[in-house]
Amino acid sequence: MDLRALAGTGILVSPLGLGTVKFGRNQGVKYPRPFDLPTDTEIHRLLDVAREGGVNYLDTAPAYGTSEERIGHILGERPEPWIVGTKAGETFADGESRHDFAPEAIRTSLERSLRRLRRDRLDIVLLHSDGNDAAILRESGAVDVLREFRERGLAGAVGISTKTVEGGLLAFEFGLDVVMATYNPWQRDEEPVLDAAVRAGRSVLVKKALGSGWMGRAAPESGTDVDPVRQAFRFIFSHPGATSVVVGTVNPENLRKNCEIAARAVGTAEKFS
Ligand SMILES: NC(=O)c1ccc[n+]([C@@H]2O[C@H](COP(=O)([O-])OP(=O)(O)OC[C@H]3O[C@@H](n4cnc5c(N)ncnc54)[C@H](OP(=O)(O)O)[C@@H]3O)[C@@H](O)[C@H]2O)c1
Repeated sequence: MDLRALAGTGILVSPLGLGTVKFGRNQGVKYPRPFDLPTDTEIHRLLDVAREGGVNYLDTAPAYGTSEERIGHILGERPEPWIVGTKAGETFADGESRHDFAPEAIRTSLERSLRRLRRDRLDIVLLHSDGNDAAILRESGAVDVLREFRERGLAGAVGISTKTVEGGLLAFEFGLDVVMATYNPWQRDEEPVLDAAVRAGRSVLVKKALGSGWMGRAAPESGTDVDPVRQAFRFIFSHPGATSVVVGTVNPENLRKNCEIAARAVGTAEKFS
């Protein structure tokens, strides 16, 4: 998988990123099955498989329990460089999520992420929206902190992980580099955000490509024997606004399969574009 430019930031990410909710949090999540957090050895194994499959990008967040801390520790034991994206605005403690988009809370969160990830720059920073995307962007002052971190070289690309089309469109109007949006064959309503990214020369990072593991039934026109993972990747990569698709897994076999299918889907999309 060839790396792709993330908007105009100079950052290069693989078309498939690895989501790491499951590295640090197994409470209050909506996956189809319960799971144990992977051991450090298992995370190393997942990162080996990711790397072999051409993945250079990890997505984490303070809201993913111990994910950030574990990534900081484990990447410190590995030789190769990784692009790490994190978020600010949501935390998870004692089984509960809390949101705070006040500038001081965002600043404190980003400084904590720098320490936890053991870095002097955060590659990608997204506001971790609770759904009130437009109000967060317009009223909280959080965007000013993102811009300041970008100007000071403490953040590479900045943006927001949204839940609304309005929020995604507004983010590009506010000059943010990236939007993380939900997009898959079964949930297409945020497509205007991907269209806007193409027009504005920005990037969309796609989350929930597999519907958080629930997927969906194969589209009727595709027949019933279509692999939903293949169907999802083909669908997403056919949109030029989708720079990278972040898929979460703690299963090395699923990760290997995702790398293979993503590489094929990207190749096919490029051939016909
Ligand atoms: N608000 C936000 O900013 C936000 C919200 C949601 C997600 N995200 C980011 O996006 C990432 C992905 O989102 P997500 O985890 O909700 O959903 P997802 O990537 O659509 O689905 C992940 C689920 O799919 C399963 N899976 C992965 N590959 C598979 C395969 N080949 N076959 C069958 N099952 C497979 C995984 O289970 P196994 O572990 O068993 O493989 C996991 O339970 C997250 O990790 C996070 O980094 C961000």
